[in-house]
Amino acid sequence: MADQVLCSACRSLNLFLFVILTSILANVAFVCAKSTIEPCSNSDSCNALLGYTLYTDLKVSEVGSLFQVDPISILTANAIDVSYPDVENHILPSQLFIKIPISCSCVDGIRKSVSTRYKTRPSDTLSSIADSIYAGLVSSDQIREANSIADPSLLDVGQTLVVPLPCTCFNGTDNSLPAIYLSYVVQPEDTLSGIAFRYSTTITDLMDVNAMGNPAIKAGDILAVPLPACASKFPSYASDFGLIVPNGSYAITASHCVQCSCGPGNLNMYCMPAPFAVSCSSMQCKNSNLMLGNVTAQQSSAGCNVTSCSYGGFVNGTILTTLSSNLQPRCPGPQQFPPLKAPPTTVIRDTNFAPAPAPQFDGSGSPAPSSGLIPSTTGSLPGLPPASGPIGSTSGMNSAPSSAFSLMNPLASIPAAFLLFILVNYIMSFSLEQSTGRTNVIQMIQMISSDS
Ligand SMILES: *[C@@H]1O[C@H](CO)[C@@H](O)[C@H](O)[C@H]1NC(C)=O
Ligand SMILES: *[C@@H]1O[C@H](CO)[C@@H](O)[C@H](O)[C@H]1NC(C)=O
Ligand SMILES: *[C@@H]1O[C@H](CO)[C@@H](O)[C@H](O)[C@H]1NC(C)=O
Ligand SMILES: *[C@@H]1O[C@H](CO)[C@@H](O)[C@H](O)[C@H]1NC(C)=O
Ligand SMILES: *[C@@H]1O[C@H](CO)[C@@H](O)[C@H](O)[C@H]1NC(C)=O
Repeated sequence: MADQVLCSACRSLNLFLFVILTSILANVAFVCAKSTIEPCSNSDSCNALLGYTLYTDLKVSEVGSLFQVDPISILTANAIDVSYPDVENHILPSQLFIKIPISCSCVDGIRKSVSTRYKTRPSDTLSSIADSIYAGLVSSDQIREANSIADPSLLDVGQTLVVPLPCTCFNGTDNSLPAIYLSYVVQPEDTLSGIAFRYSTTITDLMDVNAMGNPAIKAGDILAVPLPACASKFPSYASDFGLIVPNGSYAITASHCVQCSCGPGNLNMYCMPAPFAVSCSSMQCKNSNLMLGNVTAQQSSAGCNVTSCSYGGFVNGTILTTLSSNLQPRCPGPQQFPPLKAPPTTVIRDTNFAPAPAPQFDGSGSPAPSSGLIPSTTGSLPGLPPASGPIGSTSGMNSAPSSAFSLMNPLASIPAAFLLFILVNYIMSFSLEQSTGRTNVIQMIQMISSDS
């Protein structure tokens, strides 16, 4: 995974430049929040998730309009039962942590989500929109740059702002297994081992995915967290091509007609008519009396003849179905489903929360034993099943943790503080939008050598 970690939103730190100059020498990562950037070249997109902490009580539909995401898909992504009456108007409590399903595209050579628009209200500032309303998923500098705002103090009420949001695809795989990536904003009490534990992955995997040189994280960093998922094999002309459902959750597709689930027993996507499917086209398999999701099993001397009617994608308003039969050694048990939760009304805080000690990276890829507690004062969904990661994946296949920071180390030995001042300013003047880390550093080195 060729990815890079870049500083973003550093400009406001200019004032403190001299104060932090020495810290920069020791560790550039210290000065600004990092987020993982995935370079991309093609125009395809993928499903991704945002980890969002509600800044206030919000109806499900309000969260939906904040991100321009179907409220039902937010509920199903969090395994919340959608059959509750008037569920879209259910009020989710402040500080609740939920996953928002988004589409991740390739814009100006990097992965991001650019379909979210925000209409400003009185008393909004760029930083209140970034830090509070969007809970740190975007920085005020990124909003300012995405909208070419010259003077952030002059925001018009009712102005529509593009809100660029972080996401990664990494080919829909993690260590060659299907995965969907969650953009996770690091909270003050988080440790990397705590995050790895919470999402059933390893410190090593998180470090590989995020091209981290060391396991230090700080509040405001945005990590790409791989979640094991069920991948679909719909044809490329299907409108839900590439649908991927994280373990332990559901997705709604085909104009709310079909619901697909993933887990808990295996990572085979299972689709069936959605509970509220009303005016939907036929969901019966051709030349059969089986409906979408029906499986029949017939024991014979040769084994178990399993016939199933499965979902094959949504094409031009038509639900594709596939009838298939195969011989299996044993007949399958009844289909298992991820447990559904009632719409949350309170934020369940971890009662036995204690600050985890500093992560001890032992290189073995397993979380430190002390990570048995889930550090989560920001709240989590009651009973949210942690998604499991590829256990024992101690090394990424082809990850090259060559971040801008690691490349910078040789420069730290240049004694002239003046050079460093220029250097740091130069880094800060780069926006996420304009370039990727590697070219930054190359240009930077060229600048230094032509200066001296
Ligand atoms: C991308 O994922 C597919 C399976 O989904 C895999 O066959 C392919 O090798 C992957 N490509 C890369 C570059 O990892
Ligand atoms: C087939 O699927 C439909 C819709 O999900 C369901 O109502 C019905 O009970 C299933 N029939 C069998 C035999 O599984
Ligand atoms: C399995 O059953 C289906 C229908 O029930 C039948 O069409 C198919 O020929 C059977 N396959 C085998 C290998 O017995
Ligand atoms: C969808 O419908 C349009 C026109 O109705 C047609 O041109 C197109 O080929 C159809 N696409 C598929 C995949 O069938
Ligand atoms: C999927 O989640 C369930 C719990 O909901 C867990 O038991 C299982 O191990 C997970 N599977 C994978 C492959 O992560």
